[in-house]
Amino acid sequence: MFLGLDLGTSALKVIVYRDTQIIAQTSTAYPMSNPKASWVEQDPALWTSALNTCLMALRQTVNLGDVIGVGLTGQMHGLVALDRHGKLLRPAILWNDNRAVAQAVELNSSLPNIGMIAGIPALPSFPAVKMRWIKQHEPEIFTSIHKVLMPKDYIGFCLHGAYVTDHSDAAASLWYDQTAQVWSETICAASDTRLDQLPDIRFGHQVAGHITASASESFGLPKGIPVFAGAGDCVGGAIALGAVKPGRGLISIGTSGQLWHCLDHYAPRPDRFVHAFSHALPNRWYQMAAMLNGARPLAWLGETLGQPVADLLTKAQNHQGHVPTFLPYMAGERSPHGNPALRGGFLGLDTGTTDAAMARAVVDAIAFSFADCLASFGDTAAAQAKLFAIGGGAQSDFICQTVSNATGLTFHRTDDAAAGAALGAAKLAAFGAGAIDMAALEQMPASETTFEPKGDDALMSRYERFKAAFAAADAFSKYH
Ligand code: XUL
Repeated sequence: MFLGLDLGTSALKVIVYRDTQIIAQTSTAYPMSNPKASWVEQDPALWTSALNTCLMALRQTVNLGDVIGVGLTGQMHGLVALDRHGKLLRPAILWNDNRAVAQAVELNSSLPNIGMIAGIPALPSFPAVKMRWIKQHEPEIFTSIHKVLMPKDYIGFCLHGAYVTDHSDAAASLWYDQTAQVWSETICAASDTRLDQLPDIRFGHQVAGHITASASESFGLPKGIPVFAGAGDCVGGAIALGAVKPGRGLISIGTSGQLWHCLDHYAPRPDRFVHAFSHALPNRWYQMAAMLNGARPLAWLGETLGQPVADLLTKAQNHQGHVPTFLPYMAGERSPHGNPALRGGFLGLDTGTTDAAMARAVVDAIAFSFADCLASFGDTAAAQAKLFAIGGGAQSDFICQTVSNATGLTFHRTDDAAAGAALGAAKLAAFGAGAIDMAALEQMPASETTFEPKGDDALMSRYERFKAAFAAADAFSKYH
């Protein structure tokens, strides 16, 4: 029996996995904090306390004494700073924190080829950029930093006491050389980081450490069982879907949005802010367009209009007549624009514009962002991959069909509630322990629904308007 732990941005999910099945699962939510505009932090003590709560709940139905291995996954790009005693120096700075805009600009100008080495140019999301911000703004903390870890690796550290990450989380830090698959000395030097401050790197199915006596006492897990290095959450989610070889991928329509496909080589496209990163498994890389906004603008519209998202979606689907243009960049954008200063907006409103028309414009914008991202890959490999749609937004047939129509992509949706990064983490642990073989790792879920593009001329002409409107958002961002 294996545990898969997914340290999400808003909750920790733990699943119990036996004989290729999920036999129990639970989750515990925790908040983010926003001490200042564009800052997003989390106290890692919330994570360990959520782990205790989850394990307590699971103990009601399963005997945790039977667990023989633990796999980890979680939110990527966060920075956890520890002193030489392994104590937290400050709250974790999360992936969606946008404070380090100036440091990203500095890093890109001091190392213009950083995107070719690291698979993406510097953006505020990435730990190497955050490190530079800490140096400039919190010098006392900076001088005390003994190690930096990514969020899931901090949970690993609490369980096994070692400073270890996996290749996919290392790859997403901006300190990593994607070709050599080692920490980049050049980037470390440019981002004020010493190599010895970074954790050891393993593949996801390799052992990171073993449950220590004190972790066994705190969490009630058997002492000495292996903890596997695991994967960052987008790779964990991909592994859950069997996306461990070229020709497979996913489209995630959640709070954030991702278009992701597996490759057997490194394929950088930094000019378009495609993320070209190492997978958690050997000889595997992936390309990912990662959008900060995803389906989140729809939740924002629901909150702003005081209407449930489900009602807005029905209205949007039934709307006839003029549709305005919505620019979805509420939180800046990573792919394909790489501009943290972008912001959202409506264009083309008239006095007759209704909530239904606005909701329709937001659904269009979600789909157009995926179309922009697909174009940014620059070839057809992603379009030819077998893609599964995941995430809250993918539960809506209307959103999926609109995305399919705008992108021309065919994709599948599984009704298997098991699709999720925690399953990927558990599969990696089971694979590492020899309990499942490569065929089981490659296993894809059943496709319950397939979305195929249907010609929609009106939608495509609105896409042209959307592209024209982007120029305004881009120009506007210079005044942000
Ligand atoms: C991936 C990304 C998100 C975070 C949060 O690049 O930013 O998937 O890992 O889940």
